[in-house]
Amino acid sequence: MRSGLRIVTTGMLCLIFSGGAGLAADDAASRGAGLYGQFCAQCHGADMEGPVNGAFALRKFPHDDAARFTASVTNGKGDTMPPWGGTLAPDEIASIWAYVQTGGS
Ligand code: HEC
Repeated sequence: MRSGLRIVTTGMLCLIFSGGAGLAADDAASRGAGLYGQFCAQCHGADMEGPVNGAFALRKFPHDDAARFTASVTNGKGDTMPPWGGTLAPDEIASIWAYVQTGGS
């Protein structure tokens, strides 16, 4: 009886915590999706289904490398990836990163 109660309580706590975190991440990701469509989709493809014209396939970008993502997006890369540091605020780049981590789904 008592152990059953404990399992229920633990289950409810898990639900509350994961629900809350999921909501915050979803917000950032949907904001990032909008920015992505505006600034990135023409080269990286709608829903990251690209690459278009040889741009990097963002669905394959390592999901644990936020530092590389931020640096490449802020400063640009090669001759064709433009620097976005002057256009997008750091928190906007962070929300695009949240979107990229969803894998476009
Ligand atoms: C004008 C076309 C173009 C646009 C617009 C563009 N990219 Fe790129 N992007 C590229 C190309 C081309 C590459 C491959 C560069 C290379 O590896 O030399 C690239 C590479 C990248 C990479 C991989 C960099 C790395 O570390 O290997 C990331 C991340 C990226 N783009 C994110 C973005 C984001 C986010 C946006 C929108 C804010 C964006 N790109 C808009 C063309 C573009």
